[in-house]
Amino acid sequence: DYATSREPRLHGVGDVRSAGEIDAVRKACGEAAAVLRHLVVLVAPGITTDALDAEAYEECRRRRIYPSTLNYHSYTKSICTSVNEVICHGIPDSRALRSGDIVNLDVSVFAGGAHGDCSVTLCVGEVNPVARRLVETGRACLNAGVKAVRPGKPFSDIGRAIENVAQRGGYSVVRQFVGHGIGPLFHTGLQVLHHYDRTQTHVMRPGMVFTVEPMISAGTHRAHLWPDGWTAVTADLARSAQFEHTVLC
Ligand code: MF3
Ligand code: CO
Repeated sequence: DYATSREPRLHGVGDVRSAGEIDAVRKACGEAAAVLRHLVVLVAPGITTDALDAEAYEECRRRRIYPSTLNYHSYTKSICTSVNEVICHGIPDSRALRSGDIVNLDVSVFAGGAHGDCSVTLCVGEVNPVARRLVETGRACLNAGVKAVRPGKPFSDIGRAIENVAQRGGYSVVRQFVGHGIGPLFHTGLQVLHHYDRTQTHVMRPGMVFTVEPMISAGTHRAHLWPDGWTAVTADLARSAQFEHTVLC
């Protein structure tokens, strides 16, 4: 609904999806995962994030689906590529990936009337054990968060599970960016906090679909925004890792 206009026009959908919407989200997520798998094997020292973005765009064309980020609030690319200290929403550019980098590829697509959203952080070439442990803990945080998704349980359970894993590893959980309800809209009003917040007492209901996308940092959880208005980096430039799934409750 924003591909040809400046801003999203759709607003105010609820957070429990119909059977038809769930089917559409499931298919969209399959498409997003397929695009992500297409990109993952291309990641190597020397490739630019712009080249990965072009590949994502072409793969979406081949699949006749739309990359959800393209023109979303005037974002100009088909994916987000977040390198090292970039927490999220890194804009693909002409910088080539280097051995030792970690990079998150975030793919979201619109297909059959719904959006699907997923991301992974990858190690480029030879990555030191310190950064590899950050990445592996990021993956464990996502898995713990997804496992905490249970009908009847409060949303705070998700953040608690994630923060436990992060803290045990000595990492902080980013608070400024959160998971979101998803479906016919890319971002519904529903927010999913990745850190423990006891005020998140609202309950997960069957049929709710939302992302769990924890970002953890080797230093501060505080974020700083680049002047481009999108790129979020850790305030102390410590590295950050993120993994994301779209989840049906
Ligand atoms: N996939 C990201 C998310 O989790 C996309 C953010 S919108 C963008 O919501 F425009 F920054 F890409
Ligand atoms: Co998302």
